[in-house]
Amino acid sequence: MKPSSATAQANPNIAFIKYWGNRDNALRLPVNGSISMNLDGLFTRTTVSFNSAKTDSLTINSTPVTGKGLERVSYILDIVRKMADINERAEVTSENNFPAGAGIASSAAAFAALAVAASKAAGLNLSEPELSVLARRGSGSASRSIPAGFVEWQMGKDEADSYAFSIAPAAHWNLADCVAIVNASHKKTGSTEGHAIAGTSPLQEARVADAPRRIEICRNAILNKDFEAFANIIEHDSDMMHSVMMTSKPPLMYWQAATLEIFHQVREWRASGLPVGYTVDAGANVHVLCLGEYKAEVEKRLREIPGVSNVLVAGVGGAAKVV
Ligand code: DP6
Repeated sequence: MKPSSATAQANPNIAFIKYWGNRDNALRLPVNGSISMNLDGLFTRTTVSFNSAKTDSLTINSTPVTGKGLERVSYILDIVRKMADINERAEVTSENNFPAGAGIASSAAAFAALAVAASKAAGLNLSEPELSVLARRGSGSASRSIPAGFVEWQMGKDEADSYAFSIAPAAHWNLADCVAIVNASHKKTGSTEGHAIAGTSPLQEARVADAPRRIEICRNAILNKDFEAFANIIEHDSDMMHSVMMTSKPPLMYWQAATLEIFHQVREWRASGLPVGYTVDAGANVHVLCLGEYKAEVEKRLREIPGVSNVLVAGVGGAAKVV
């Protein structure tokens, strides 16, 4: 095979049942399964070109990246080179169409796009589960940005078995994610460091033991389009993950005052008939899920809350793909 070039695109995703903690940090084998939806309209587009250069190179949004960022990309390229039996180094260029610090984790879309582009450029023809496994090695949540729509990542028995698959296509349920951006003053601890200390919280064991129950409820709520059950389980799961975060060593407190204010408002809105529910990742921003027809109303209400600096709105997205 002659190594060449390929471009791929992937959406970020928002987790409804969260991934928090690994049973193997190097392989990113999670301690529990998770469920998410891809975010339509937001994407990372990545080109991988194998060439005769001496080292791999990485450019993100026109800025050259070295050090840890490049190492994490080379780690995936090394796996691909081994699978394809090639030695060429690669030039990787990547663009996000959503602003950094917009409250959307970029690593999921980034490593999903990288897995698809790098394997294609190396001449490999990987199946969806194989692409999901490859993306997972770069960032756990990236495994879920490979398949389309509503996605479940099974923890799996072993390395090859821990991948994500679609449980329903994007068109199955018209949901919207209204992301309320809350200004966080301090620098937050990244998820990779967070996963590594999840086990130091005495609450993690209970959270993990109960995960199959939450997955089942969430999957059924999505399949049955039962919004009330969906809202209750995503809030419950998010609160459980943050309870673990807050009680780990060192403690991780991601919420700001406005985060909590949004929780109260969302629950009041739901009690008075508006179909909304919240979930929060490793940050202060609040993802407010609603039925698609209410997204303009939810966006308007969120913008009125003091401490909310912006609101991004996304529908349900498709699979990662070669472009
Ligand atoms: C809180 O996938 O970002 O968003 O594998 O270290 O890159 P790494 O972690 P990452 O963790 C995501 C954590 C989360 C919950 C989730 O998306 O399931």
